[in-house]
Amino acid sequence: MMGNKMLIDTHCHLDFDQFNSDRSAVIKRAEEAGVKCVINVGSSLEGSRKSVELASGYDSIFASVGVHPHHAEEVSEDTLFEIEKLAKDKKVVAVGEVGLDYFKSPSAPERQKEVFIRFIELSKKSLLPLIIHDRDAHRDTLDILKKTYSGLSVRGVMHRFSGDKKVLGEVLEMGLFVSFTCNLTFRNAKVLREVAKCVPPERLLLETDAPFLAPEIHRGKRNEPAYITELRDILSELLGLSKDEVERVTTDNAKKLFGI
Ligand code: NI
Repeated sequence: MMGNKMLIDTHCHLDFDQFNSDRSAVIKRAEEAGVKCVINVGSSLEGSRKSVELASGYDSIFASVGVHPHHAEEVSEDTLFEIEKLAKDKKVVAVGEVGLDYFKSPSAPERQKEVFIRFIELSKKSLLPLIIHDRDAHRDTLDILKKTYSGLSVRGVMHRFSGDKKVLGEVLEMGLFVSFTCNLTFRNAKVLREVAKCVPPERLLLETDAPFLAPEIHRGKRNEPAYITELRDILSELLGLSKDEVERVTTDNAKKLFGI
């Protein structure tokens, strides 16, 4: 007997246009694959609105509200006000994705930092955990979190983790959870797999970041929450845990962090 199968995809973007033609079929396939719950993550004001709307239509979907650092230049006081209003919805379980991205970003780092700090303040005020996006900006991301939390532990997750073992050490010390996406299955992701081995299971979350980063067997195609089983399987190998154990521990972690 397999027990009660339950996986949680803690980060996906089912509001994106890539799902316009078959969104409900994608959600059904996720449920059939054992993904009983997904968090749809807003990456713009419009995306946050759509995430809340999507969550209101399905018991299995929760929402996160925030603006991706690429759009930091578009964030006005009005935007922050609107996001704060959305954060009060009962299906909203996090503030994100927010953070810093210095990889070919259209938004200047200085503006990204200002906006990130504002979203950290919102996360504290609304008592919601943070879903943090950090690409090529590890030092600044960690410094801002350390400064704004002044040594206290941070309630949140480093999404699509891409740091080395040293960055991981700091992230864990701050109390953060860590999540990987299906890019862990890529043939060329050897270094990342070595880092993943060092994450204590009680700090690990699963995510697809769909429609991005489909697993190796579907490489180059659109990703979807049902494919999270590929991620569970590789983590089972890397951590030396059974697939059921990976499911159980990551689901417990997600429930604990997001209160779902
Ligand atoms: Ni994302």
